[in-house]
Amino acid sequence: MSGFKLLPTPLESLVVFVCMLMSVGNLLSHQHGSGVNKVFVKEHDDAVLPCSLSTRENLGGMLFDWRKNGQKDGQKEVFLYDAGNHYNNGRQGQDKQFKGRVSHFQGQLMNGNASIKIQNAKMADSGIYSCDFPKLQPSQTFSIELVVELTLKDRSGEIPGTCPEPYIKTLNDTKDGLLLQCEVRGASLEPKIRWQDSAGNILPSEEKVSERGGLYYVTLKTAVTKTDHYRCVVTQEDIGHQIDAETFVPFYEKLCEDRSVGWLFGGIVIGAAVVAVVLALLVATKCITVTCDPGKLMLCIVSIYINTLFRYYRNIV
Ligand SMILES: *[C@@H]1O[C@H](CO)[C@@H](O)[C@H](O)[C@H]1NC(C)=O
Ligand SMILES: *[C@@H]1O[C@H](CO)[C@@H](O)[C@H](O)[C@H]1NC(C)=O
Repeated sequence: MSGFKLLPTPLESLVVFVCMLMSVGNLLSHQHGSGVNKVFVKEHDDAVLPCSLSTRENLGGMLFDWRKNGQKDGQKEVFLYDAGNHYNNGRQGQDKQFKGRVSHFQGQLMNGNASIKIQNAKMADSGIYSCDFPKLQPSQTFSIELVVELTLKDRSGEIPGTCPEPYIKTLNDTKDGLLLQCEVRGASLEPKIRWQDSAGNILPSEEKVSERGGLYYVTLKTAVTKTDHYRCVVTQEDIGHQIDAETFVPFYEKLCEDRSVGWLFGGIVIGAAVVAVVLALLVATKCITVTCDPGKLMLCIVSIYINTLFRYYRNIV
């Protein structure tokens, strides 16, 4: 008798209690379709929404109904299968959002698998779906959340509220470089703005945001010091919208720091260029007949002179 205990120890009661809680939890989650299952899919990819009966009973002759919960427009009919009769073989009633895009897995029905595939997932497909077996005893409903992950692209015209192309302005030459300003005028969703160079590096910049009448006005300034294509990129992640504007900033290397040396050098360049141009004109008007390669060489030298001259003048103007 010494091996028997009539009353459980506190630890044993705790274990029993936890086990009971867990089985109740299991039972509940079973009835509610094991919570909300989340499915993530990229925009334009196909989404498989899973729904299976644990009993694996053959669904061939049964009824199951997929609906999407909407906020405003209530529930939308996504897919209904009734003993072989469904939206892809003549049955009416499917919501137009899903027309021609939803199919079931015929070969899986005998395994109790009522999963569906939605082709070419769109933003609007995101949300909570229910998979319902209304004729089962007891009836069963499963919830599945579909999350369509947006790819960033220019969605102007596709959806309302997209930010228009930003404006780029070149401001002052400062000690830090040439100041570029990017401006967004009136975005209804707060945008994220960044300046980047042609290699995609994000540039340090200074942002100012103001809000007027529910619209966001943002300016972003950055100082640049190198010749490059600079892009101002505006992103509205919530709606997958991205738009940018680009500007090319040329920096001409300074030939001379000292202006007087500059002029002297300029004089030489001009003189040489004049000679070269005259030569070129003579060649062109055939006053001098060029019959061999040295002529081409001369033309080449002429163009180099003219080029240098142009660069020099652009630099000092
Ligand atoms: C149901 O069928 C789909 C499509 O073939 C499959 O991806 C899924 O894994 C199946 N589910 C179960 C529980 O077998
Ligand atoms: C340019 O710089 C000067 C002096 O640094 C300043 O007074 C002026 O407001 C600046 N202009 C712009 C457009 O930022």
